[in-house]
Amino acid sequence: MRISESVPLWLLYEDELDAWRATQSAFVRQWLIEQNFKGEKHRVLLMPDSGGALSFAIAGLGKRTGDLSLWHAAGFAERLPPRRFRLAQNFTAQEATQLCLGFAYGLYRFDRYRAAKNDAASLESPVNADMNFVTNAVDSLRMARDWINTPAADFGPAELAGAARHIAERYEATFNEWVGEDLLAANFPAIHAVGRASSSAPRLIELRWSPEPEARLPCVTLVGKGVCFDSGGLDIKPPSGMALMKKDMGGAAVALALGNMLMSAKLRARLRVLIPAVENSIGGNAYRPGDVLATRKGLTVEVGNTDAEGRLILCDALALADAERPELIIDFATLTGAARVALGPELPALFGSDETLVRNFAAAAAAEHDPVWPLPLWGGYDDELASKIADLNNVASSGFAGAIFGALFLKRFVTESAGWLHVDLFGWNPKDRPGRAVGAEAQALRGAYRYLVERYGIS
Ligand code: BES
Ligand code: MN
Ligand code: ZN
Repeated sequence: MRISESVPLWLLYEDELDAWRATQSAFVRQWLIEQNFKGEKHRVLLMPDSGGALSFAIAGLGKRTGDLSLWHAAGFAERLPPRRFRLAQNFTAQEATQLCLGFAYGLYRFDRYRAAKNDAASLESPVNADMNFVTNAVDSLRMARDWINTPAADFGPAELAGAARHIAERYEATFNEWVGEDLLAANFPAIHAVGRASSSAPRLIELRWSPEPEARLPCVTLVGKGVCFDSGGLDIKPPSGMALMKKDMGGAAVALALGNMLMSAKLRARLRVLIPAVENSIGGNAYRPGDVLATRKGLTVEVGNTDAEGRLILCDALALADAERPELIIDFATLTGAARVALGPELPALFGSDETLVRNFAAAAAAEHDPVWPLPLWGGYDDELASKIADLNNVASSGFAGAIFGALFLKRFVTESAGWLHVDLFGWNPKDRPGRAVGAEAQALRGAYRYLVERYGIS
């Protein structure tokens, strides 16, 4: 076999291995026994020919549970030698698409600060796979993961704005930003207060795009928490709590990458992306516990804790979004540690203005193997956001239900729009899994994409 030829790759569930083995030569049957290969999920077996060359490979799919998903294929790339492979079986279009997506996810590596690996396995695209979607999803995932993985020293508010500008240019979207003192002049006082102590000026970034400038299309606004580093501010975090806080712009990364994915696919809706970008720093001019901040909406907020900064920058961005009355606002934010206590790192918490919206969004995300989990916007707790001297406090008096209080706070600033969803995500893989190495994760990216494509369609 010539080395340039692609190598067949069989994908086998544990329960189909015996039947498959029966169709193979005595040589192959014996090799499977010697290797004790049972079709275990993520296990790969290489089959030599009599000359020692690679004849084909088998990848285990494990036990049959649910659909064949991208996660079945996400471990292949790192387990296979650097050759070109092709699927040896036929799959449905949906399965072929998922497998290509998973294979490509497994190739992701953050190599900004170390040499790239240039010899990786590759997979030929099956003819029925939707490669436009795969390429678009993988590009968008890579950019979001890269942004989140990049330390704050190299990815502060200015660099985040640069990334957004780059995406705007790619799709001829309108780019706009308010930087530093501009924020005060344009009435974004809370964003300015949170970000003013950093040597990288706070800003609000805006992208606007439409598939057809003239068409009357519904409007969707995405908002992302862009805290490029969260020290906690004067209510400083302990070292263990601060260690990962370069990822506190994970919501911004997801909102921007989602914007990229939707513009690339030409969503049949007008799109607006708003990113308040700050560093929550400590300095002589830092905002303090006890300060009362003005906000764009006119509500005054007493700062109960400078570490609850995300909701303060989001409230100005949401007020701007809401004033235009879009059909739907979705915000993404690494808002609370409490959401992780409730659901763990794999399941972003989902809150929303009505049950059907929440249910449909969660269903679309689950179908895309990118789950999010609904939590209640429990109005019964709302009074605990009260302040003795301002319209509200940025933290609740009780220590319970922190994720709900984060959402209830934001809700005060979304009063005009038809629909609103809030995704409280972790943005990080704390353990190694195939295709999901320890490091950044663009949670809810594919899930939100699917929801919006189902609702509005693409061109
Ligand atoms: N960025 C954090 C939330 C966070 C922490 C997300 C760890 C993921 C992992 C946020 O700004 C924060 O510090 N929230 C506080 C809120 C509290 C002061 C009410 C929290 O969760 O402790
Ligand atoms: Mn914080
Ligand atoms: Zn934060």
